[in-house]
Amino acid sequence: MCGIVGYVGPQSCSDLLVDGLRRLEYRGYDSAGLAIYDGKKISVVRAVGKLQNLVKALREQPLEGTVGIGHTRWATHGRPTEVNAHPHVAGNIALVHNGIIENHLELKRQLAEQGVKFASDTDTEIVAHLIHRESSAGNDLFTSVQRALRQVRGAYAVAVIDQKQPDRVVVAKNASPLVIGFGEGEMFCASDIPAILPYTKIMLPLDEGEIGILPREGLQLFTLDGTSVGRQPHTITWNAAQAEKGGFKHFMLKEIHEQPRAIEDTLRGRVDLAATDVVASEIGLDEATAKSIQRVYFIACGTSHHAALYGRILTEHLARVPATTELASEFIGRDPVVGPTDLVIAVSQSGETLDTLVALKAAKAQGAKTLCIVNVIDSAIPRVAGAALYTHAGPEIGVASTKCFTTQLAAMVLIAVYLGRRRGTLSQERAHTILQGLVELPHQMRAVLALDDIIRDLARPLASAKSALFLGRGVSYPIAAEGALKLKEISYIHAEGYAAGEMKHGPIALIDAEVPVIAIMPDDTVYDKIASNVQEAKAREARVLAIATKGNADIGGIANNTIYVPKVDPALTPFVTTLPLQLLSYYVADFKGTDVDQPRNLAKTVTVE
Ligand code: M6R
Repeated sequence: MCGIVGYVGPQSCSDLLVDGLRRLEYRGYDSAGLAIYDGKKISVVRAVGKLQNLVKALREQPLEGTVGIGHTRWATHGRPTEVNAHPHVAGNIALVHNGIIENHLELKRQLAEQGVKFASDTDTEIVAHLIHRESSAGNDLFTSVQRALRQVRGAYAVAVIDQKQPDRVVVAKNASPLVIGFGEGEMFCASDIPAILPYTKIMLPLDEGEIGILPREGLQLFTLDGTSVGRQPHTITWNAAQAEKGGFKHFMLKEIHEQPRAIEDTLRGRVDLAATDVVASEIGLDEATAKSIQRVYFIACGTSHHAALYGRILTEHLARVPATTELASEFIGRDPVVGPTDLVIAVSQSGETLDTLVALKAAKAQGAKTLCIVNVIDSAIPRVAGAALYTHAGPEIGVASTKCFTTQLAAMVLIAVYLGRRRGTLSQERAHTILQGLVELPHQMRAVLALDDIIRDLARPLASAKSALFLGRGVSYPIAAEGALKLKEISYIHAEGYAAGEMKHGPIALIDAEVPVIAIMPDDTVYDKIASNVQEAKAREARVLAIATKGNADIGGIANNTIYVPKVDPALTPFVTTLPLQLLSYYVADFKGTDVDQPRNLAKTVTVE
């Protein structure tokens, strides 16, 4: 997830582009840059870190010109350095990109064979070179971009300028957002509406597979195969604050709804259905090493620890290697026994959590193999770990983690299948079922998110509860724990997430008509057992809200209310059962009027032990 802005018109556009990037900084903030045509040539200024660093760089090297593109980066390929910052230049071409190019290695190999030298480690630079190659063959900018993008597989929004045709910006979109803004004798493009809202309210979001030419006079829009598109722009009625949150009331709600896209980005290029395998050399384990591992430790805190609990179950189930999950703060304190045949996997959305970092260092010092699952590229944890599997959720602004959690779940499936295939414990047939189910999840998740209004209604009575109990078994136990954490974090209602079988060993004493029970009970091998546990709660007058699989005919006799989720493979149910719990917590908090995005006493990154 990165931010793009582009301009063509009569104004000198450097300040305007920076201003737009400032309103897109929530999409990425590890580096930024501008490319502007000054009447003779394209000049580029880039800087690592926050946008303020670019502003400083532009003071030393001002850019003047009326056609330009800008970018704020959220690294996916290549560290956050100046050479990896956008715009990327190849000859007469400068380009900014948001997305992930799946076949970048294959394309890079082809270009290298033709003598192309690369300045960066990014997937984006390859697209710049492809366009330059087409341009050098005599094509105009539009045709060059069109022909280059036909070779590309993956997600992209691009804005491109050309020293040979400097009166225009060419834009294209596939899976990553791009909106066109229409001014009086000037045109804009951006990853999101707020970037250009101060300049125009007349906008047109591009559809998948569209490519457009932006001269000052307007938009010429086509599909990638060259068919003209006649869609009309419309007027945006949101104010700037609404626009930044994509029309949602809070970042958390926006991020909940972004999850299908975040999962798609995390899986992009990593699932090879034809080969029934996970393509992720970044896991850093060859077949012999994968076979030699005798134990896996997952270490994490908070929500990431709940993802780790799921990872543990899947790793044992699919890779048949003993696995254990540790709270990072406890792992450090108890002088653990780890060594060279252990794989220690640190899980962290921020990559900066000190407890997890210290635990990881301790494991590494004892000779364990180390890997991390992290969302922020080049943060502290991946710099220490032997290998890093990055989730591609994009920046998460809401303090309560949502999309980072589900992308961590996706990473867990990738690792478990990767290990299972290499250790010979996972049959091709089962691996195919899991991977097929995995790539279908975004679709199923969208179906759950469509229940938003129903879930909002079910949340209303929960807002007056003093305490709530979340129950789950098997892979639903981590989800119960996460559901409870989410509710307490943002609504300040006391909540417990319990393994349902454990309820009778104590928590059952809490149950009465005032304590709502939220039971996560999708169709799986432990369904009958949790159904009995829920009956036990019902017998003590509990009011039960069940999360169950669509088509479950018995649940009406057990639960007072039910949220139905689509049927998925039993190993993958957490992806669809998590979403209703996030929405429930969100709406409960919103009804209570708490500060949803910045709940009291919490911080997004916890860098104290
Ligand atoms: O950045 P990390 O994933 O390492 O953070 C760990 C916890 O601090 C974090 O998950 C916390 O529990 C969140 N507020 C959850 O919403």
